[in-house]
Amino acid sequence: MAHRITLIAGDGIGPEVAQAARLVLEATGVPIEWEERLAGVRALEAEGELLPRATLAAIRASRVALKGPITTPVGGGFRSVNVALRQELDLFAAVRPARALPGVPIRHPAVDLVIVRENTEDLYQGIEYEAGAPATRTLAEELRALGGYELRPDAGVTIKPISVSGTRRIVRFAFEYARANRRRRVTVVHKAPILRTSDGLFLATAREQAAEYPDVDWDEIQVDHLSSRLVRDPSGFDVLVLPNLYGDILSDLAAGLVGGLGLIPGANIGWEYAVFEPVHGSAPDIAGRGLANPIAMILSGAMLLAHVGELEAAARVRAGVDAVLADGSVRTPDLGGTATTDELARAIEARVRGT
Ligand code: NAI
Ligand code: MG
Repeated sequence: MAHRITLIAGDGIGPEVAQAARLVLEATGVPIEWEERLAGVRALEAEGELLPRATLAAIRASRVALKGPITTPVGGGFRSVNVALRQELDLFAAVRPARALPGVPIRHPAVDLVIVRENTEDLYQGIEYEAGAPATRTLAEELRALGGYELRPDAGVTIKPISVSGTRRIVRFAFEYARANRRRRVTVVHKAPILRTSDGLFLATAREQAAEYPDVDWDEIQVDHLSSRLVRDPSGFDVLVLPNLYGDILSDLAAGLVGGLGLIPGANIGWEYAVFEPVHGSAPDIAGRGLANPIAMILSGAMLLAHVGELEAAARVRAGVDAVLADGSVRTPDLGGTATTDELARAIEARVRGT
């Protein structure tokens, strides 16, 4: 039976990299029934909504989606479609493997990290109070009454909620992931000494959960210290589990360690649904010109294949990417080459077909 996959091409370079991924996934011979749906600026123009109901319904029906990046319009009170999608479908875990790829020159050759980022709470939950708004004045009065806190009258506020239940499930997810994928260690990342009620709770909850996985090695580190360690020598780290904001930032740092945003795939996973997408954004600066590296999107497709049980096809896609990178003759400009998005995709497609 064919796998039903919702395909959301997205904005900017999204359609170019989505086309590339489709080409390569089809080359595996795995039967796929694609259902194309809109989200983002293209959806806003065509259907008047950034995240149309029909798109959500399609993902709920197929349970898995491959998604290109989406431009969040600045101003106009728009919420990020990505944040909304993760919350609507309760995709609580973002998994982003950053491993050194053959033939891509990098400073530290031994990078093999997996970022496991909490996806639904923290500063990204979307609880925002605009500077000067009436609700913000009410909040300031409450804070004064409850804790004697003085909010400056010209301050905007974003709330950072971190819950025991939210932390428990992401930490368990990270440990289960480490166990299932035979990873060496889980590192819990936090800023608990300063953010005692949010990160402090994250750390305490993580310690409790870690005790239930005696077979998995683990440790803990503060996020600032980790940043410096990763830049100097990332080889000692393996699976990192982080609250939402740190996970976002360190995902891009990890991308930088292995050769750039164009290479890092990602998965957003919940109990019921999963949406696979590259870590990078819609790259408006290079959109529509065939300059985008499609590898992050193609490897996101490989993660999707593995998720639906097509492990052998997933391995062939990864091997195809590795082979083309190792060969080095077909590369997009971000990797120092002159090939177009489509040329790189076709080179990978040929390798996948040939195996
Ligand atoms: P970005 O990731 O789109 O671009 C950052 C830099 O990396 C740019 O110079 C871009 O050209 C380059 N780049 C990104 N992907 C590349 C690829 N595949 N190949 C070659 N070069 C690549 O981040 P930026 O500029 O901060 O965001 C642009 C838009 O994307 C914004 O509207 C943002 O909200 C959205 N965005 C969407 C995401 C998603 O849908 N998951 C994630 C991140 C940002
Ligand atoms: Mg990001």
